[in-house]
Amino acid sequence: MDAAYVCGSRRLTRATDELGAEHAFSGYVFLEEKMGCGIGFCKGCPVRLRNGGGYKLVCTEGPIFSTREVELSGPIFPPQEVGIW
Ligand code: FES
Repeated sequence: MDAAYVCGSRRLTRATDELGAEHAFSGYVFLEEKMGCGIGFCKGCPVRLRNGGGYKLVCTEGPIFSTREVELSGPIFPPQEVGIW
């Protein structure tokens, strides 16, 4: 198996990431978020990256992310930290 794709459950996403690391395959997560503009203007759909890597926007840089890229141990979506609302 080369890759696994997951959506919905955070627990399933973490499991996919852990199995991918253990068995050397890539994991990808399809993230859903309510979107205000859909073009990167409102900053209302950020996803937190691992290791203090900042944020990416689901609407313009996703919605598919590597499970190794996205922070899975805390809240994935922290709009109050980077949003303009
Ligand atoms: S929906 Fe507005 S920045 Fe993503």
